[in-house]
Amino acid sequence: MPTALVAGATRGIGLGFVKALLQRDWNLYASYRQPDSLGGLEELASRHPGQLHPIALDLTDEAGIRATVAQIEEQLLEPLELAVCCVGVLHKGDRGPEKSLAQLSGDWFEHSMAVNALGPLMLLKHLHPLLVHHTSSQFAVISARVGSISENQLGGWYSYRASKAALNMLMKTAAIEMSRRFPHLQLLCLHPGTTATELSAPFSARVPPEKLFSVDRTVRQLLQVLEEARGGPSGRFLSWDGSELPW
Ligand SMILES: NC(=O)c1ccc[n+]([C@@H]2O[C@H](COP(=O)([O-])OP(=O)(O)OC[C@H]3O[C@@H](n4cnc5c(N)ncnc54)[C@H](OP(=O)(O)O)[C@@H]3O)[C@@H](O)[C@H]2O)c1
Repeated sequence: MPTALVAGATRGIGLGFVKALLQRDWNLYASYRQPDSLGGLEELASRHPGQLHPIALDLTDEAGIRATVAQIEEQLLEPLELAVCCVGVLHKGDRGPEKSLAQLSGDWFEHSMAVNALGPLMLLKHLHPLLVHHTSSQFAVISARVGSISENQLGGWYSYRASKAALNMLMKTAAIEMSRRFPHLQLLCLHPGTTATELSAPFSARVPPEKLFSVDRTVRQLLQVLEEARGGPSGRFLSWDGSELPW
């Protein structure tokens, strides 16, 4: 049974990956941030004992990441084949995303950077030893098109844009280092398209219905992108339709 880790699996796109991979008979580690809030994972885990393993993972806590990876390593029967990091933050309560420079605040910027950029790279730092034993493994992060510097025509969303641009740069840099040492491990940044989740909900009314994907559709499309990219070059920024996005 192939084995994957889905980070940020309590809801939204992450939970969608868990459902789709369970249907495809993967063995899964799926992470929640808070022990008292497993979200949609709770019921799924009770229906798939032995196949779905919920694990605690707050990407802003490096010691916690290290401990969780050690816990996975102890249990792992086969090398990890896939890790998809679906963790992200755009807004929380009345914070984010900024419409103007006047709304920029240091603590929200730092939080966005910690969750969206540094967190996924810390996960890669500690998790990659579990991925490199597979003959063709993938570590993918859900980035966002708004993190493209060259495509930015609208402005706004300072912290989110900057954190996704930083995530892309960190992934590209790690891909160069990793491809020298571990040519079988592929690193990818994926844009999911606007998807109906809690993250996009405050803005989805402005999105034409045909451009607002269901979670199921997004996950199906991204799994196809991953399958088609497998074995190819590392360090790419790919959209939901498989096309290459400009950094
Ligand atoms: N939805 C879209 O239209 C869209 C478009 C472009 C890119 N994206 C990106 O796609 C990814 C998934 O987004 P989504 O729409 O599924 O968002 P979502 O429904 O808000 O889910 C976000 C997930 O991230 C987890 N999380 C937040 N902070 C965390 C932390 N410090 N450590 C660990 N987990 C944490 C949340 O856990 P809790 O439940 O514990 O809070 C939740 O599971 C994000 O990176 C987002 O930026 C989404």
